[in-house]
Amino acid sequence: MKDGLSISLVLLLAVVANAQTASFDEVRDVFGEAASQHEPFSAPCFQDWDSAECITIRTNYLSGSFRTRVPSSMVQTQWETCQRSGEQCLLDASNPNNRPAVNQMTCARGSVPDYFVQVSNYSQVQEAFQFSRDTGVPILVKNTGHDYLGRSSGRGSLSLWTHNLKQIAFHRDFKAEGCSKTYETAITIGAGVQFTELYAFADANNVTVIGGEKLLGGGGHGPLTNTLGMAADRALQFRVVTPDGQYRTVNACQNEDLFIALRGGGGGFAVILEMTYLATPRVTLQAIFLSFPGTPDTTKELFFVLIDNGLRWSQEGWGGFTTTGVFIYINPVLNATQAVESMTPIAELSERLKTAGVTNVSLTQATFPSYLSWYRVFFAANIAAQGINMPFSSRLVPKTSFATAESRAELLAAYEAAYKITPRLIIHSVTPASYAGDGQTSMTPAWRNSVFHTTMVDTWRWNATRAEKLAGYRKVGESADHLRRITPDASYSNEADIYEPNHKVAHWGSNYDKLLSIKNKYDPERLLDCWHCVGFDPSSPRFGCYFSEAEVKGR
Ligand SMILES: Cc1cc2nc3c(=O)[nH]c(=O)nc-3n(C[C@H](O)[C@H](O)[C@H](O)COP(=O)(O)OP(=O)(O)OC[C@H]3O[C@@H](n4cnc5c(N)ncnc54)[C@H](O)[C@@H]3O)c2cc1C
Ligand SMILES: *[C@@H]1O[C@H](CO)[C@@H](O)[C@H](O)[C@H]1NC(C)=O
Ligand SMILES: *[C@@H]1O[C@H](CO)[C@@H](O)[C@H](O)[C@H]1NC(C)=O
Ligand SMILES: *[C@@H]1O[C@H](CO)[C@@H](O)[C@H](O)[C@H]1NC(C)=O
Ligand SMILES: *[C@@H]1O[C@H](CO)[C@@H](O)[C@H](O)[C@H]1NC(C)=O
Ligand SMILES: *[C@@H]1O[C@H](CO)[C@@H](O)[C@H](O)[C@H]1NC(C)=O
Repeated sequence: MKDGLSISLVLLLAVVANAQTASFDEVRDVFGEAASQHEPFSAPCFQDWDSAECITIRTNYLSGSFRTRVPSSMVQTQWETCQRSGEQCLLDASNPNNRPAVNQMTCARGSVPDYFVQVSNYSQVQEAFQFSRDTGVPILVKNTGHDYLGRSSGRGSLSLWTHNLKQIAFHRDFKAEGCSKTYETAITIGAGVQFTELYAFADANNVTVIGGEKLLGGGGHGPLTNTLGMAADRALQFRVVTPDGQYRTVNACQNEDLFIALRGGGGGFAVILEMTYLATPRVTLQAIFLSFPGTPDTTKELFFVLIDNGLRWSQEGWGGFTTTGVFIYINPVLNATQAVESMTPIAELSERLKTAGVTNVSLTQATFPSYLSWYRVFFAANIAAQGINMPFSSRLVPKTSFATAESRAELLAAYEAAYKITPRLIIHSVTPASYAGDGQTSMTPAWRNSVFHTTMVDTWRWNATRAEKLAGYRKVGESADHLRRITPDASYSNEADIYEPNHKVAHWGSNYDKLLSIKNKYDPERLLDCWHCVGFDPSSPRFGCYFSEAEVKGR
């Protein structure tokens, strides 16, 4: 009896501890004008459909760049909702002007954080860690809100919004603080600078930087990664606040353990205020672009050509992506003649499709004077959908999958099966296969042995039932299973299956134990815990809006 009583007391105390909150007045006392509260993104439409505010929201509902400027908005809208309880405040993404749809629903807060602090300097971040320690209110970091794993939202949290840290500077003869090695050119950016802004700035300074769309936390890939490395490979220095409250300069010569963790270890080690990237001279690019109406048959043909030539193209310096009816690749190493020669199989495919009567086949080969000039023409137009619900999964495909006719046939069959489940599958040639790195990164080492990164997505309607949402997560998992069966356990932590079965190995491989000890050193209290991050605690109440792993697996 006595034991029973003390157990219930402990449980009661645990419940009380989990329910800790702070009033907005308390938040204001600490953070002043930088603190704010925000309704869910679409709330104004539930109050007055015809208001100017609602019209702006309806007009920009699917715009990633608009959403990025609004603290309570997430680019993947399921992260604004509480999936476990069903509370949400969404419009009909297939037609944001669908008013009857909204009339059927109420607007609930979902997983929109209670409080926001617009970060402009490190002392606010130091105060935020102390505030979280004192009140039990969880903190999280939101930069652009693009995260596919929902790491930048969470009900009951205080969100550190770093989006407006927009400073940017160009350096010649850059030396990281306390280091002696000199880099000819480098660029320092505030955490809120987005890659499109960075590309434009680099171009104006005649240099090239690496990235895709967004931040480098878990690696950062783009179509030049093959030859120039991942964003993580090229990070030279960070200015951060660690959960112990220390403002630190992090580079290869001080706080070296954190340097490795921030170069590929994902979120949860520190709040980054600023980082410096290696910049290299402007590159001339050979580009190829093939498009045609994608059907299962034509897509299979394209995948066949891709798998047949993928390893060679990787060795010749190509990078890019392939999806239904689209093949976009660039190369900074070959000259125009060599590029045309190397891409003969694509030109032949284009001819075969035309001969077979496929209309609207379009093949372009061209030379671009810089990355930005190419990016503006081809990449910007092919960005992933935004403003919708999107379960995600990813898989890396190793060089060994290309070794023999049998292994290539096996890979093609896996892609065909995955494509049947998730037709918006994308095969990205964005691995650092030709870039050795300096041994000071922490994403899974599988990246450098891989040729492809593959992403598989699904979606559900704004008013989907719980069962439909769970089915969406299962579907992307089952699609990935076709590749999981034939590849080592490896995926990209920023674009991974939200329910990746063995995320520690898949995201970090043999680096996990080292990362965990760094996490324990700087964040023993787990003030910066996030979903499937190093040291992730699934039982933390901050994850109360996610479906549980067991539920998704149907157990
Ligand atoms: C349309 C689209 C295109 C994409 N394209 C690419 C691509 O080409 N290449 C690629 O590599 N990835 C790509 N991604 C994935 C991208 O890497 C992740 O979405 C990543 O989480 C975005 O980082 P963010 O800071 O912009 O997002 P947020 O959602 O704002 O933040 C995500 C998490 O990153 C961490 N974080 C963010 N800012 C900080 C900070 N200042 N300090 C500490 N931690 C921080 C936190 O854990 C935070 O929860 C793409 C995503 C989308 C939606
Ligand atoms: C940090 O920014 C806040 C909000 O703008 C400001 O009140 C505070 O004085 C700043 N602190 C320092 C040390 O610059
Ligand atoms: C960049 O290169 C162009 C052409 O070579 C030159 O005119 C321009 O001055 C350079 N800009 C900078 C900032 O170096
Ligand atoms: C391209 O490179 C090849 C091999 O180095 C060389 O033989 C050829 O002349 C080059 N062509 C052009 C147009 O520069
Ligand atoms: C070909 O392109 C034209 C013009 O863009 C379009 O109207 C037509 O539907 C396309 N045909 C197919 C088969 O996609
Ligand atoms: C969602 O709304 C659409 C109309 O916008 C309707 O056709 C559909 O049946 C609804 N689905 C559910 C699950 O309520």
